[in-house]
Amino acid sequence: SPLTQLISIFSPLQVLLVFAKEDSQSNGFCWACEKANYRCSLAHTPESALECFSEKHHDLVIVDHRHSRHFDAEALCRPDREEASVMPLINAGFNRRYVENANMMACYNELLQLEHGEVRAQFKLRACNAIFTALEQSQDAIEITSEDQVIQYVNPAYEAIMGYQQGELLGKEIIEVPKSEKNKPDLLETINTCIRKGKEWQGIYYAKKKNGDNIQQNVKITPVIGQGGSQRRHSSMARIHSMTIEAPITKVINIINAAQESSPMPVAEALDRVLEILRTTELYSPQLGTKDEDPHTNDLVGGLMTDGLRRLSGNEYILSTKQPHHLPSHLATPLSLNDIPPRIAQTMETEGSWDFDIFNLEAATMKRPLTYLGLKIFSKFGVCEFLNCPEATLRSWLQVIEANYHSSNSYHNSTHAADVLHATAYFLCKERVKQSLDPIDEVAALIAATVHDVDHPGRTNSFLCNAGSELAILYNDTAVLESHHAALAFQLTTRDDKCNIFKYIERNEYRTLRQAVIDMVLATEMTKHFEHVNKFVNSINKPLAALEENGSILTSPENRILVKRMLIKCADISNPCRPLELCIEWAGRISEEYFAQTDEEKRQGLPVVMPVFDRHTCSIPKSQISFIDYFITDMFDAWDAFADLPNLMQHLDNNFKYWKGLDERKLHSLRPPPE
Ligand SMILES: *[C@@H]1O[C@H](CO)[C@@H](O)[C@H](O)[C@H]1NC(C)=O
Ligand SMILES: *[C@@H]1O[C@H](CO)[C@@H](O)[C@H](O)[C@H]1NC(C)=O
Ligand SMILES: *[C@@H]1O[C@H](CO)[C@@H](O)[C@H](O)[C@H]1NC(C)=O
Repeated sequence: SPLTQLISIFSPLQVLLVFAKEDSQSNGFCWACEKANYRCSLAHTPESALECFSEKHHDLVIVDHRHSRHFDAEALCRPDREEASVMPLINAGFNRRYVENANMMACYNELLQLEHGEVRAQFKLRACNAIFTALEQSQDAIEITSEDQVIQYVNPAYEAIMGYQQGELLGKEIIEVPKSEKNKPDLLETINTCIRKGKEWQGIYYAKKKNGDNIQQNVKITPVIGQGGSQRRHSSMARIHSMTIEAPITKVINIINAAQESSPMPVAEALDRVLEILRTTELYSPQLGTKDEDPHTNDLVGGLMTDGLRRLSGNEYILSTKQPHHLPSHLATPLSLNDIPPRIAQTMETEGSWDFDIFNLEAATMKRPLTYLGLKIFSKFGVCEFLNCPEATLRSWLQVIEANYHSSNSYHNSTHAADVLHATAYFLCKERVKQSLDPIDEVAALIAATVHDVDHPGRTNSFLCNAGSELAILYNDTAVLESHHAALAFQLTTRDDKCNIFKYIERNEYRTLRQAVIDMVLATEMTKHFEHVNKFVNSINKPLAALEENGSILTSPENRILVKRMLIKCADISNPCRPLELCIEWAGRISEEYFAQTDEEKRQGLPVVMPVFDRHTCSIPKSQISFIDYFITDMFDAWDAFADLPNLMQHLDNNFKYWKGLDERKLHSLRPPPE
């Protein structure tokens, strides 16, 4: 029972012995305390006794009354003594006498009697006091009735919510209080049956406020049975009206509760487990197993999935582009698709294939793959027609965006953006994806892919948070980079009409498009990885597998959002699904970028967020294996089940085997050494 639990908080009992001199009697009590597991203190003078008591508030004080020449025991216990405020336990004088008997067992029995008699009663009184204070302060409306349903107590929250004063209700039978007619007619009977069986009832109940308004409440009714473990039914019933604002999760919990009522035992028990999981907050974060912890996985999780230790240091990390880049005027720029140099056009001919080699394009375009591939892909999807904008505007826009990627990053430069754009376009051509998305979703996806890492500093969120960078400060350590990419993309686009591709669409359309682009860019944040993947599996994969027709599952607005998020996430980390040579090159680039971060963390004395990415010790094959195991496999299984991508899964399999092979040979490098 709650009271016993409260009482156990107070244990072990504290005993104070006030004895002028230690003798066999005081020793008897000391040993008895030890046997009973009480804490025992000994004081020799009234002054030290009071001092000791005011510090520890003993539950039991034993005063030696045998030798009045040492101190006046009776005076010590008189409530009108000046220091009497510290003696609430001994309200007046002695409340029990013990005749001298130094026998340890005699002392022990005395102590036990005291504990089970007056001391426990004191505890219960204190506990009741605390419980009533809690009832009075609770924000939930609480009503207590007797067994025959006479109202005995309502708390202030009840008064506030229902509009009654306590005095109007106490002593009344529940039947006398007006009921709402919105409840199902048999509801009260159901509740009563449940309570009579000694079971709790929880569910939706309409109550009538004093002013006649009906109010929907999530109500829990608990019969209070027995006392101190006896089976006798005690005559009270507490009715707890919970909050009226319901979150979806509350509804879910209510539905499950209701289902439990009529379920056989094993089902009800399984549902208990379900409820337990649902009530925990981090629904979408996997719990990393404690056994066989893999340092690579841990580092990746720590480095990619958290926002650092949120520790600010004096080291300001300054982004290398303080001023956004403007058009690089010295480079010859194509006027339109028709002006693309033949060598580049030829490189892009195979753009429709998944095995397209983006690194060839990087070389052929002198590090401007995004502008050229963007021109081609955007024109293929009719983006200019959709946005109603001149091709020259799109071209300027692509150039501005590409110029704001950092060429000095070994991974997050515009080649990565072009690669993600390529994967996005590839996915958009898949039948299922086409069925579920509208033209505006396609345009949003292509734009999001293009801008999704713009102005990336080549450092992770954790790093920026640890370094107290300006961006981390600006975005409160939350989705720092992704927020910046999205915000900067729109700033760069709208600040100059020459590159404002949104200038020619209607305000409402712009808002929808903007919303979708922001949502997709933010979805690339890895802290939400499992949330996005699990939502996709639960809302799309599973229902699709269960049903033959796919119409409304695919096209509902909520699910379209999930499809778009999954699409850009898969495009963003699709490297392990590319042909082996490309996969190896990407693995080299990302490792190098992480190594550079670790180097800088060491230089600046910052916490090292991914210690395994140390260029002197790192096993790249191991890090790739962990990344694939932890982030890639499940996600692409789900995406493949939806979009049908056997070629990607084949590459993934090959690449995984490749890294395994290197790892089995204990090699740390990207490739085996030449024979
Ligand atoms: C991206 O970084 C790599 C180094 O990993 C570099 O060779 C390449 O030229 C860069 N690409 C761009 C577009 O800056
Ligand atoms: C950061 O936190 C402050 C204080 O809570 C808030 O006012 C501000 O809007 C937050 N900024 C962002 C970008 O979330
Ligand atoms: C459901 O998907 C299948 C395969 O993608 C397709 O053939 C079928 O036409 C779809 N049905 C509907 C109602 O969209």
